[in-house]
Amino acid sequence: MITVNNKVYESYDSKRNLAEWLREELYLTGTKIGCGIGVCGSCTILVEGEAKRSCLLKLENVEGKSITTIEGLSAADGTLHPLQQAFVDAGAIQCGFCTPGMVLSALALLLKNHHPTRREIRQALQGNICRCTGYQQIVDAVERAAKIMYPRTITNDTK
Ligand code: FES
Ligand code: FES
Repeated sequence: MITVNNKVYESYDSKRNLAEWLREELYLTGTKIGCGIGVCGSCTILVEGEAKRSCLLKLENVEGKSITTIEGLSAADGTLHPLQQAFVDAGAIQCGFCTPGMVLSALALLLKNHHPTRREIRQALQGNICRCTGYQQIVDAVERAAKIMYPRTITNDTK
């Protein structure tokens, strides 16, 4: 059994490559295959909330696990996840090929670290290669999303 974006799948070839299965069987083509050898990060998905390269995994490696692809982030009515919206608002997308993997690596970071520094964001995204944006706007987008997703509460201690 494998859960993808909250939907359970029970019938599959466990030796199949995960990235190919997502794209070719489930039609979740937001998961991109760039290098196919674990270098570019464009195939990044979440497995139990951790960023993983789906091109390096077989289905047997994720048996019993819960997977999130980029399609699993937006709401049913198409409203973008705040992190996706932040990428749009910060101008962090050009060709968009790297973007699903970039967003999911960033989400894995934000789930663990609600207020990362720019250095921590860069470190978390160092395995995701972008040929277009120059990275600055991508880091801006993740910073912006962190502020929206996890607003800092101001304590007013007047006693
Ligand atoms: S396609 Fe998986 S890391 Fe490049
Ligand atoms: S936006 Fe084109 S590769 Fe990143």
